[in-house]
Amino acid sequence: MKKILVTGGAGFIGSAVVRQFINDTPHGVVNVDKLTYSGNLESLETVSDNSRYRFEKADICDIEAISAIFDRHEPDCIMHLAAESHVDRSISGPLEFMQTNILGTYTLLEASRNYWQKLPEGKRNQFRFHHISTDEVYGSLGDQGYFTEDTPYSPNSPYSASKASSDHLVRAWHHTYGLPVVTTNCSNNYGPYHFPEKLIPLMILNALQGKPLPVYGKGENVRDWLFVEDHARALRLVLEKGRIGETYNVGGRCERSNLDVVNSICAILDELFPGKAPHASLIAFVKDRPGHDFRYAIDASKIERELGWLPQETFESGIRKTVEWYIDNPEWVNHVTSGSYRHWVEEHYGK
Ligand code: NAD
Ligand code: DAU
Repeated sequence: MKKILVTGGAGFIGSAVVRQFINDTPHGVVNVDKLTYSGNLESLETVSDNSRYRFEKADICDIEAISAIFDRHEPDCIMHLAAESHVDRSISGPLEFMQTNILGTYTLLEASRNYWQKLPEGKRNQFRFHHISTDEVYGSLGDQGYFTEDTPYSPNSPYSASKASSDHLVRAWHHTYGLPVVTTNCSNNYGPYHFPEKLIPLMILNALQGKPLPVYGKGENVRDWLFVEDHARALRLVLEKGRIGETYNVGGRCERSNLDVVNSICAILDELFPGKAPHASLIAFVKDRPGHDFRYAIDASKIERELGWLPQETFESGIRKTVEWYIDNPEWVNHVTSGSYRHWVEEHYGK
């Protein structure tokens, strides 16, 4: 049994990772999260009473708080997911992206290095710093081609530039100090507990309420979609079996244009609520995102070949599960859309 320190465990992907560790493995988890607007402890209600789960509210930029957490919990390894994650927010206000994604990663690397250097040899050899990153660091593709682990970095948005910076820091801490790191770069995730600022949950919730579905530009941009539970399984595998110093690309081989994605959601809702069909009549083409990357597509051969990972969901099965989850979980949805999920945090921790 290992103790894994997960940063950003109250977020969309982090909470899936934490739920899997608690439900499907004997391991323990220390969830370190600042609980920004996108952190939601209600996403962890099914596991938070488990004796193998601990929560620490902390900012990854705070070296004293993070070092104290290392000393208190003595983790065996770290999975670093905490980040500012939304591209549109990075365009309207980049500062927090630079702070959390770059300085936060730096702080965590330093705290990890100090801790790791003092570990007894056995534990030192087993220690891993797993950095969770994005395919957006590779820039934008045209109609052809795929991102491989050797694709040169070419980030275009403040978000992707901050994630690219963090990837470089992780690489440098391995090269210079020998910190045992692994990095994963993943494509677009979707699934339950996704904050409804992102395309898929926003479209589902707007369509359910009969609100417009804002599609940027002509809806022709392409993303490579991966069900979040498949990503979480890939992350656990890389943590356990990934080679030190290596990068693994993770993707669903599920390319869809944004318009196709929105139409798929509308078709499922038409089937479930025929009285409100056609939901696609709600589609509204709006001003494009500045610097909007055209296409992302991952070549996931390396993780498939070396670690035997394959996604379990197709886009069709995953998107249906996702739409059904949002319909079946009105409490989580209402607390997020009304903002009342923040009240609990403020009562317990202050504003
Ligand atoms: P998210 O926004 O849902 O969650 C981020 C979490 O980090 C939140 O719980 C938030 O409270 C926490 N956090 C933010 N700043 C913090 C700080 N300074 N200190 C401590 N905690 C802080 O994001 P997500 O979609 O779950 O993404 C998780 C990670 O995966 C990110 O690193 C992101 O770059 C990467 N990623 C996301 C996707 C995707 O499609 N969502 C794809 C590839 C990679
Ligand atoms: O590729 C991985 C990345 O995927 C992650 O690193 C990011 O954290 C994650 O947010 C995601 O970035 P995107 O910008 O691709 O995701 P988003 O859901 O914001 O947008 C998906 C596509 O849909 C994109 O082409 C923009 C478009 N879009 C988005 C929104 C919110 C719309 O057309 N309308 C919208 O309202």
